[in-house]
Amino acid sequence: MTVRIAVIGGTGVYDPEMLQDVREEWVSTPYGDVGLQVGRFQGREVVFMARHGRQHSVPPHLVNYRANIMALKGLGVRSILATAAVGSLNLDMKPGDLVFCDQFLDFTKGRVQTFFEGGPNGVVHVDMTEPYCPELRALLARAASNLKLPVHASGTYVTTEGPRFETPAEIRMLRQLGGDLVGMTGVPEVVLAREAEICYATIAMVTNFAAGISPHRLTHEEVIEAMQVNAAKIRSLIAETVALIDPERDCLCHRAVGGPVRVGGGK
Ligand code: HPA
Repeated sequence: MTVRIAVIGGTGVYDPEMLQDVREEWVSTPYGDVGLQVGRFQGREVVFMARHGRQHSVPPHLVNYRANIMALKGLGVRSILATAAVGSLNLDMKPGDLVFCDQFLDFTKGRVQTFFEGGPNGVVHVDMTEPYCPELRALLARAASNLKLPVHASGTYVTTEGPRFETPAEIRMLRQLGGDLVGMTGVPEVVLAREAEICYATIAMVTNFAAGISPHRLTHEEVIEAMQVNAAKIRSLIAETVALIDPERDCLCHRAVGGPVRVGGGK
């Protein structure tokens, strides 16, 4: 089985609603087994993966990111569209807004971020100049424009370790450092996708203003509710974008590790 396009659903997106003839699959990887769903959409096969499990039972710091990305790689995936519920640090990015991230800041603490740990895989220092695929981001922007959806075409996503929300002091610091959005899952997913040479783009949905900016205390329920209210927007954007993706497309991301930065080991 070969599938070229994947959707990773974050908080509030647990269902590949747009897919037809959906079948459940299990993919084994050296990092663990991964359950996912494969279906058809506009004549192409698309795989859907619920990042937190379909019952939202896996917290951000315990997601098996390596298994997830390796499973998609094993299926032959070349393009990943990921959704993310995020808090906003930027007053121009309001609850309900969609943002196509172009940069990230990493404040995670205890997560393995690489497939390359020496040994047979060697050591790799992957380039992160454009962590999110510029071509997929351009397709997202085109899809949004086709749908007349207002979006923010760029934004810096800060990943915190979670699962707790941030303190207002942390949010003040992250804002000063240039962060626009805050979430708990962006890293290492984007990093591992790059190491796996898969194009990756994030559709971030602002669910709340971050702690200290929001006039009230934050709850996970508030995040889920905001996602539910806006789920239709995300679904139609994904459908429109998937229709624009050439499954066999070639991209520089597909050679992110093959270049001269690779040190030692064989692949
Ligand atoms: N902080 C971290 N992660 C989040 C937030 C937030 O405010 N909102 C949605 N995911």
